[in-house]
Amino acid sequence: MLLPFTIFLTYSILDSVTCKTSNIIPLTYDLLFKLPIIDFNGFSGSMVLHFNLTSLSQNISLDSVDLHSFKNISLINTIDLSHPKIDSIRILREKVEFTFEKSLFPGQYLLTVGEYNGRIRDGSEGLFERKSPLLYTTHLQPNFARRLFPCIDSPAVKSIFRVSVVHPTDTVAQSNTIAMDVHIESKEWQRTIFSATPQIPAYLLAFSVMPDTTLQLSRQTSFGVTVRVHGAKRATTIRVLDCALASFEILAGLVDVPLPLNKIDFILVPQYDGGMENWGHIAISEELAVNGDDAHMIYLIAHEIAHHWIGNRVTVSSWQYICLQEDLADWLALKAVKALLTDEIKLQRFQLSQYVEIQLVEDFLSPNHSLLMPEEVNQELINRHCYLKGVVLLDTLESVVGEQFMISVIKSLVGSHSSFNLTTFTSYFDQIRVDRNATVGQIYEYWFTQGGYPSILVENNGPSSRLQQLSKPLWPLKMTSTLSIPQFVFSESIVFASETAPLLVNLNFTSFMRVNYDSMTWAAIFKYMYEEPELFSAVGRAQLVSDFCYFYAHDNIENGHIIKDAVMDMIYTQPKYFELCDWNLYWCNSKSDKSLLSQILQSLAYRFSAFDSSSDFGCKNGQAAYNLNQMCDKLFGRKCI
Ligand SMILES: *[C@@H]1O[C@H](CO)[C@@H](O)[C@H](O)[C@H]1NC(C)=O
Ligand SMILES: *[C@@H]1O[C@H](CO)[C@@H](O)[C@H](O)[C@H]1NC(C)=O
Ligand SMILES: *[C@@H]1O[C@H](CO)[C@@H](O)[C@H](O)[C@H]1NC(C)=O
Ligand SMILES: *[C@@H]1O[C@H](CO)[C@@H](O)[C@H](O)[C@H]1NC(C)=O
Ligand SMILES: *[C@@H]1O[C@H](CO)[C@@H](O)[C@H](O)[C@H]1NC(C)=O
Ligand SMILES: *[C@@H]1O[C@H](CO)[C@@H](O)[C@H](O)[C@H]1NC(C)=O
Ligand SMILES: *[C@@H]1O[C@H](CO)[C@@H](O)[C@H](O)[C@H]1NC(C)=O
Ligand SMILES: [Zn+2]
Repeated sequence: MLLPFTIFLTYSILDSVTCKTSNIIPLTYDLLFKLPIIDFNGFSGSMVLHFNLTSLSQNISLDSVDLHSFKNISLINTIDLSHPKIDSIRILREKVEFTFEKSLFPGQYLLTVGEYNGRIRDGSEGLFERKSPLLYTTHLQPNFARRLFPCIDSPAVKSIFRVSVVHPTDTVAQSNTIAMDVHIESKEWQRTIFSATPQIPAYLLAFSVMPDTTLQLSRQTSFGVTVRVHGAKRATTIRVLDCALASFEILAGLVDVPLPLNKIDFILVPQYDGGMENWGHIAISEELAVNGDDAHMIYLIAHEIAHHWIGNRVTVSSWQYICLQEDLADWLALKAVKALLTDEIKLQRFQLSQYVEIQLVEDFLSPNHSLLMPEEVNQELINRHCYLKGVVLLDTLESVVGEQFMISVIKSLVGSHSSFNLTTFTSYFDQIRVDRNATVGQIYEYWFTQGGYPSILVENNGPSSRLQQLSKPLWPLKMTSTLSIPQFVFSESIVFASETAPLLVNLNFTSFMRVNYDSMTWAAIFKYMYEEPELFSAVGRAQLVSDFCYFYAHDNIENGHIIKDAVMDMIYTQPKYFELCDWNLYWCNSKSDKSLLSQILQSLAYRFSAFDSSSDFGCKNGQAAYNLNQMCDKLFGRKCI
């Protein structure tokens, strides 16, 4: 059966979009934050918002959560300088609404909020604090800007921000841009005034207040941007600085589009997951900076720097496409990891950890998921869907069009757009045809929007090999193989002549699919792997074991148990070639409890980032597997893997 062309047309991206565009276009925000206000463990703010009103309206409605005590509100029409009289302020759950006595005509206005108050939290959302060492900092993605100031809190809406921070005299403040002025206001308070940002969405605004004893180490890149790292421990701060400088050089060379910034800060934040690409003010996990292996460290830092092009200069127009933004940043970051990590073993280990995470997510956390997110997204949804299969899909796309073409797409996106969506991205690939019926752009769109994890069966029968798609719906599958077969397979099954050798496909997980073979081929693969393990990459070995176990557990392999015994034997006699084996063997291991594993992984609120230090690896003695089993033991009284 051939895959009909209509598969590319049967879904609609627009289905879930309900466009609630605001009649307010913010132009600039002048923001002042004073913190900490001990009385109510919060901050006070004031704001002047310059905006265009696009339609007649009696009220001004802004996103706002947990902000209160609004005082001294005034509005000026900047064309006729009239002062419309305010009638009431309504504080709703997610909005603050200023209603005026008379309707406001479209035009330009200045809204002044003389004072309002908000909270300082101890999680990692909005404005939050850490006690030792003392740190106040912000994290506004995806929708926490509204906890800091009333705003239009959407990635598609970009404005200029001028921030000032009033903070205790024994602290320093940093923000997205350099400080233009610092002055003392009283014995306790000083004010730091930052220069204006370029046009950015509200979620990329950030500032931090830290003790003036915090270390600040800095160096300049070859293209004149100062990289500064703020941390408590010297060794960690230096490590981050070295890594940030090297990553920035690589990425700037690759993308080759200058950024409108003269400094970039890195703030080490304790008890913080991963990192955040705030414009010029990147936050990263202090624990990762201390304990993470080199690969994960470069990966994280390069990812946040890469966002300054993909995400910060050009931003997704809706959170629906957040995985495209994240996966493109990852795709760039992985270039930096490969360039900077000279140790092949460390690189293979890192790639292995990513492979295992993808399997866990596909099997347990988000089975059958697509990369299209709901518009109301949260960090957990992002972590469970982005950074994973989407990155493999971009690698596969690269294998079709080439690295230079991918880079030119990124350059063009950054250079000529301030917002993008899936269509903007795929339109670059619409000229490239795979056959009469499909373009690369359509195929990528299908991969992105279609849920699921395709699987195929390859049967080698002497002079011919048969390839069959096992999963429905059929995918357009990109093939890499040991024999010459078409680059793409669309059909349900297809037969090739293979007189000389068995057909093996997708080695090294170059495409996002599982591959099952006939028993003879499986037996031959593992015999070869047993004798020559070094001829496979770490991912290559893990993938074959993991695919085998998956199909074995689903009763899809004849005499599977005999091969399974041989696989277990191979792994336990040479465990050094099978790091993280506990994870790849979970489908083979009758003792591993899939439903427990599923429950426990789902109870971890964030992405499964279990493999970021070298002690996590190891087969049978990896810390990550050990930790997981400890947790399972505590919760369920038994092991999970
Ligand atoms: C705001 O309105 C003015 C005229 O009132 C117009 O010239 C300007 O382009 C508008 N700006 C935006 C960003 O819509
Ligand atoms: C505020 O204005 C919008 C549109 O102009 C309208 O839909 C909404 O009902 C108004 N809210 C109130 C409380 O008047
Ligand atoms: C509010 O406005 C009044 C009168 O205009 C002024 O005296 C007062 O200082 C203002 N308060 C704040 C917090 O701006
Ligand atoms: C995922 O898809 C497969 C095949 O279509 C189906 O058997 C399975 O139940 C689905 N799993 C979930 C969790 O939806
Ligand atoms: C994507 O962006 C393009 C160009 O800005 C726009 O024409 C199109 O309607 C957008 N598509 C969706 C699905 O939002
Ligand atoms: C393209 O589509 C047409 C009509 O659906 C079909 O007859 C033809 O076989 C397809 N060609 C390929 C190469 O898939
Ligand atoms: C798999 O990756 C390893 C290491 O990157 C490489 O040496 C090997 O040639 C690759 N194998 C295939 C079949 O692509
Ligand atoms: Zn990111």
